Amino acid sequence: MNVKKRPVSKLPEVDFSNLGFGKYYGDHMLLRRYVNGTWQESEILPYGDILLSPANITLHYAQSIFEGMKAFRGEDGIVRLFRPEQNFARLNRSAERMAIPRIDEKKTLEELIELITLDQDFTPPHLGSSLYIRPFIFATDPTLGVKISETYYFMIITTPVDAYYGRNLQTVGIYATKEFTRAAPGGTGHVKAAANYAQSLYAAKKAQQKGYKQIMWLDGLEHKYVDEVGTMNIMFVIDDTLVTPTLKQGTILAGITRESVLQLAKDLGWKVEERKIAFKEIIKAAKKGSLQECFGTGTAATIAPVGRIGYDDGEDIVINNNEVGPYAKTMYEALLGIQYGKRKDPYGWTVEIKKD
Ligand code: COI
Repeated sequence: MNVKKRPVSKLPEVDFSNLGFGKYYGDHMLLRRYVNGTWQESEILPYGDILLSPANITLHYAQSIFEGMKAFRGEDGIVRLFRPEQNFARLNRSAERMAIPRIDEKKTLEELIELITLDQDFTPPHLGSSLYIRPFIFATDPTLGVKISETYYFMIITTPVDAYYGRNLQTVGIYATKEFTRAAPGGTGHVKAAANYAQSLYAAKKAQQKGYKQIMWLDGLEHKYVDEVGTMNIMFVIDDTLVTPTLKQGTILAGITRESVLQLAKDLGWKVEERKIAFKEIIKAAKKGSLQECFGTGTAATIAPVGRIGYDDGEDIVINNNEVGPYAKTMYEALLGIQYGKRKDPYGWTVEIKKD
């Protein structure tokens, strides 16, 4: 792979004590073009702007997909990726649905490792912060015809970040809406299409105006069942059982953190259920006192405890006095323990990056 290095690093400009999310970028980016029916050789280039035609088809019709993964720096100084092969497998599932050509997962992982090895110094040193990695593919044909593009860019960029909802484990409020729909069977809810996020912004703004951080989406057919939250999957603890919506309807993103949390929960001896969850059941459980906790899971969000759920026709559901509960805390420690190399990694989820 051709590597063109940035002559002077931007690392000294990064304020590691206040990273936010997507404020700083690594020195380099990976770029691979799709032309003449095949993916070309990748290059690593200095991070920077790219030139696009105003008729770029993605700008108009959103034939674009992405992934989110992270690298973590442990107390031992070692940088580790977390289940990156799962992200590339999902990227290919998204590609299939959005009529984008598939990538070679093994080769892409090798190239990612080369990029992260080069920019590993951008990985923050403290627990909860990480190097967020954004692989994405978008169509590049310069045409206004509504059609499958014949050319694409695959890129990877990196950004040192705090957890999406803040550095410390803290509760957020979410709003369950019947007014808007994220996904319906047969749609693109199960893949990471950029357009899924664009269409969610208006509903999220409405929720934020009401004082909540994010929308909790209910199913698109009846608005009765819980699907997921703006930027994460959602889990409840009811009667000491961890309950999360099933992926069977094909409307929910198959989160890699979601799947990891379900595995760790079973290992911790928790009862786990993946099934349809009526929002009414959540209201009932809250009234009965059996709704103990609720938390979101996601690459960006990590474990995000939910302290309050608002909805259209009732009083807010307050969970665990709007405080972080023991289940969320235990899971946070179990998951981050593996990601930061503090705990045993029984499933080989982490990939160590060698020092450059
Ligand atoms: C992630 O968790 O990586 C996501 O993709 C959510 C992102 C849109 C902030």
